Amino acid sequence: MRFESRRVIVTGAGSGFGEAIARRFAGEGARVLLADVNLSGAERVAAAIGADGGTALAVEVNVAEEAPVAAMIQQAVDAWGGVDVLVNNAGYSHRQKLLWKISVEEFDDVFGVNVRGVFLGCKHAIPVMMEAGGGVIVNIASVGAIAPRPGVTPYNGTKGAVLTMTKGLALECARHNIRVNAVNPVAADTGFMKTATGQDELSEELQASLTASIPRGRLAEPADVAAAVTFLASDDADFITGTALNVDGGRSV
Ligand SMILES: NC(=O)c1ccc[n+]([C@@H]2O[C@H](COP(=O)([O-])OP(=O)(O)OC[C@H]3O[C@@H](n4cnc5c(N)ncnc54)[C@H](O)[C@@H]3O)[C@@H](O)[C@H]2O)c1
Repeated sequence: MRFESRRVIVTGAGSGFGEAIARRFAGEGARVLLADVNLSGAERVAAAIGADGGTALAVEVNVAEEAPVAAMIQQAVDAWGGVDVLVNNAGYSHRQKLLWKISVEEFDDVFGVNVRGVFLGCKHAIPVMMEAGGGVIVNIASVGAIAPRPGVTPYNGTKGAVLTMTKGLALECARHNIRVNAVNPVAADTGFMKTATGQDELSEELQASLTASIPRGRLAEPADVAAAVTFLASDDADFITGTALNVDGGRSV
């Protein structure tokens, strides 16, 4: 198994992409710390992993705040002696609207989670990884960072920041045997969509218009993202750092 006994933290693991990422790592032998501001979601996923014979811990963390993020890293150290992989996946979008209708509070909040959250996760994981002789970080950005659609401009700005931090950090960490990469998913029908659209269900009209813009003819599935993240975290990707893998069915081409 590719991740036998590796210690993996996945933020935002209580639903959507994070759930699929955590389950895929656990299914390949990793011990997984599931961190989410929604503790019951993380606990549900941890229980499912446990029922499948895997090892998982659930913790409540708001990634926008430093003390809980530091405690999250420490929890993995206390439980398993270190952190081999950090997946900075937690994130959300403000409600879709034109930039000039977005409040300063909405702007600050989305940068707080999507950008400061990634910064804090990296800041606290890297010293632990350095001490152990290496590690891997995978940041979940978005195809919107490189091919934005209207209506989510500050959100796309957060993901552009994540891509730029990924590249710079990869250079800072390369000689410490720490690789840093990103994944750019295209639209998927997860909790993210509910927050962004304000709709409980993705309307047929929106689903059709999103699908029409994706050459492969479907939305992303959480399993697509999990496959890309685990590849980047695996030893097969040993020479890959500072890059972003588009998991977008050709949308950004
Ligand atoms: N679904 C899409 O269309 C899409 C496309 C591109 C990128 N993304 C990105 O994928 C990532 C995962 O989103 P998803 O689609 O799985 O949505 P999701 O809403 O299903 O999952 C996001 C998870 O992050 C958690 N979370 C939110 N804020 C948090 C915080 N402050 N601290 C800790 N946890 C927090 C939520 O509770 C939730 O469990 C996000 O970074 C999102 O921006 C999503």
